[in-house]
Amino acid sequence: MRVLLEMGSFAAADADSLYAGTRTADLRRFFGSRTTLAVTATTHENPELHHSGFAALKVKDAVVDALRDRMGHRPNVDVKNPDVSLVLHLRGSDARLFVDLAGDPLHRRGYRVAMADAPLKESLAAAVLALGGVRAEQPFVDPMTGTGTLAIEHALASRNIAPGLRRAFGFERWADQSHLPLFARLKQAAQDCRLAKAPCPILARDLLTSAIQSARRNAQAAGVAEDILFEVADIATLVSRDPPGTICMNPPYGERLPGPDPEQPLDELYATIAHTLDLMRGWSAVILCGNPLLARILQRKHEISHRLWNGPLEARLLVYRL
Ligand SMILES: C[S@@+](CC[C@H](N)C(=O)[O-])C[C@H]1O[C@@H](n2cnc3c(N)ncnc32)[C@H](O)[C@@H]1O
Repeated sequence: MRVLLEMGSFAAADADSLYAGTRTADLRRFFGSRTTLAVTATTHENPELHHSGFAALKVKDAVVDALRDRMGHRPNVDVKNPDVSLVLHLRGSDARLFVDLAGDPLHRRGYRVAMADAPLKESLAAAVLALGGVRAEQPFVDPMTGTGTLAIEHALASRNIAPGLRRAFGFERWADQSHLPLFARLKQAAQDCRLAKAPCPILARDLLTSAIQSARRNAQAAGVAEDILFEVADIATLVSRDPPGTICMNPPYGERLPGPDPEQPLDELYATIAHTLDLMRGWSAVILCGNPLLARILQRKHEISHRLWNGPLEARLLVYRL
């Protein structure tokens, strides 16, 4: 989610040594007279500094004081949208101070403008496609698309569009801008590799009209709406098309289901999914599932299985050849 550049490591058994150690880090290149700052911290096994908010405050004080002494001005704090994000990791009395190169976490590709129920993080969706062996040269169907994350990530990958090409990064807001010409060249090279359209059809369906509306808006923001065909439809109506490709999905796993019958038992929906897959002979199925009941109901031998984390929720990625 982030790339952290280490700016210093030192011993910090207590607040005073944390303050003193932080002051030794030279952070001048990041800060001009109007640069804003935020500090976050994680702490483990340090009895004097077990409160992460307090540790972050000490680091902020040290940085502000050091910059005032060295440069004659002090940065303002902006916790919501800082120019520079500093991160402290404290384990026992080992302190490491980093500057966050990403700014906004890297899973935010900059295209999620509309929400629906339980969206996947963009980076998790990309991981599902990569681990599931999904290929650009084959048709792709997500029959339970929600906000469209899997279909959009697949369209971006199929068109060779680099993740985050449309967003800004933390390192673009530093006072020292000497690295930006190199970044501009790298960005141009990434832009030059984009394909004009996806090589194969991509279909995104969902039972809910509102989900399809969100998915379409997100695809427009990602610049891939033309590559995806959107349909409001029940998975029960999905039929195989030629040539076969990949059916990729992240089915509901919670208690309440969308649609006309929220009380419909999950096992009925999973039985419908199993029946649909029975009819998709020759296809691959790549399924990210937050509920082990689905794998039991499918009663198929998977080719690949991975344990992944969907935020705090454990999920299984299962790949089947149908
Ligand atoms: C966990 S969400 C998918 C989230 C999605 N991967 C995303 O990133 O936004 C499951 C989706 O399945 C849809 N769904 C539930 N029952 C369905 C059915 N019978 N047919 C088609 N879609 C269905 C829901 O409307 C919901 O959008």
